[in-house]
Amino acid sequence: MPELRINGLSARVDDGATVLDAAELVFVEIPTLCHLKGCEPETSCMLCVVKDVATGQLIPACSAKAIGGMEIDTECDEVQAARRDILNLLLSEHVGDCEAPCTRICPAHLDIPRMLRELERGHMDSAAWIAKRDLAIPSVLSHICPAPCEKGCRRAQVDQAITIRELHRTEGSVREFGNSRIPGLTPMVTPMEGAGKKVAVIGSGPAGLSSAWKLCQLGYACTVFDEATQAGGTLRDHKTLPMDVLDTEVEWLAGAGIEFELGPAISLHMVSDKFDGVVFAETEFSGTHFADAFYAEEHKLAVKAVANGKAAATALDRFLKGEPPDAAERFDSKIGKLRESEVRELCKNSSAGSRQVITQSISNFGGTEAARCLHCDCRKPLSCKLRKYSEQFGADQQEFPADERGHVRLIGHNEAVVFEPGKCIKCGLCVKITKRADEELGLAFTGRGFNTQVAVPFGENLQDGLKQAARECVDACPTGAFAFKEGGEIKN
Ligand code: SF4
Ligand code: SF4
Ligand code: SF4
Ligand code: FES
Repeated sequence: MPELRINGLSARVDDGATVLDAAELVFVEIPTLCHLKGCEPETSCMLCVVKDVATGQLIPACSAKAIGGMEIDTECDEVQAARRDILNLLLSEHVGDCEAPCTRICPAHLDIPRMLRELERGHMDSAAWIAKRDLAIPSVLSHICPAPCEKGCRRAQVDQAITIRELHRTEGSVREFGNSRIPGLTPMVTPMEGAGKKVAVIGSGPAGLSSAWKLCQLGYACTVFDEATQAGGTLRDHKTLPMDVLDTEVEWLAGAGIEFELGPAISLHMVSDKFDGVVFAETEFSGTHFADAFYAEEHKLAVKAVANGKAAATALDRFLKGEPPDAAERFDSKIGKLRESEVRELCKNSSAGSRQVITQSISNFGGTEAARCLHCDCRKPLSCKLRKYSEQFGADQQEFPADERGHVRLIGHNEAVVFEPGKCIKCGLCVKITKRADEELGLAFTGRGFNTQVAVPFGENLQDGLKQAARECVDACPTGAFAFKEGGEIKN
């Protein structure tokens, strides 16, 4: 039984074991993309490289045999830099958007495609839940937001942008689901780590309401203070916003657990003595600095104020948990502008042809407008290992720009499993799995060199190649290349 050291930790393994097996024994995580337990190593991605200290060589941990006396380093700068280069190369030919353009542009990052999918399926409560979760005051914003998201909507390349702003008007549905649990979705307010702690938000404008709502969702007991007798801040001065819409949103937030202390002048000392954390979201405090306080700048664009409120709440939450102030941004692969043929390809994701008439609320709307969405986001934004590791190793998609970007293609869009060749990193796992599962046709690599790609042999349909191994292929595929059409992982 060879004994070797991984990052100084001693590991004794069976004969024939790999360096990766040894690392697992001592709980050292090595990133892999093309490795699957029970399959011969493919050694195609090379992300699992580690340093053999004696020889100074970088070796692939998934295939290198563990030899007695070996000294392995999995963390040195050289290993990190090699992994980053590998990811940058993979990303240079990766044709995929982790997030949809509309979500990126929305300052509050509403998960628009997900909301639209729920609407399209007639799940009004789930759609309203998503709008509420991400925007705090979605109905107010549906009246006054300039809708920058719609300006970035790809559907405009086909006919007209989706009327996203109208679709997050939740007043018709919001009362139906209240604060209850929606099947398949996590509860609106979860007893999380914030539980037991009390936080205060000074100011009840859009930034304050949004901060309070985010803190409430994170499990804090939250009180909003304002000298005004009604919550809403500058929203109360808005000429085109019906005040009953604002009242309903505030009422709903109160019903969800946010306390409001309105009217009498408040003493800041009283607040700082009684609460574990404070967010200042009121213009008159913005010039003053308080140690350990967090600031959510109110903004004349309410959606920006909402975004500021969420950011301040997240920062306070991290502070109270003793985490570093800045959370790492999620990695986001970007395709950029689509060619005309590619927009047509994405239209396969849309079940509706043309624009429909909008009615007053999404409850009445029936999802016909939502059905026009091209669903530009990725189907595996949470489980994609390429995204996870790109984030972890600080990869940069622009480091090695490709001469010509690959094409967006959707294969099998009418079937249960969708294959997007542009997202395939040619790891070979799906090919091995279909072989192991004795699929009659299965999958194979076709073409040569740069044009190599995964396909069902003889040009047959995806469903004929994946009769038994579909789920296994989707689960093993390290990216969003293979995904269930109706999969859709839920971002929280
Ligand atoms: S496959 Fe992964 S990296 Fe590519 S778009 Fe999807 S989530 Fe992003
Ligand atoms: S088509 Fe849908 S997912 Fe794509 S940008 Fe427009 S609203 Fe967003
Ligand atoms: S489609 Fe197959 S070859 Fe391509 S990344 Fe997914 S599992 Fe690997
Ligand atoms: S080469 Fe080892 S996991 Fe890909």
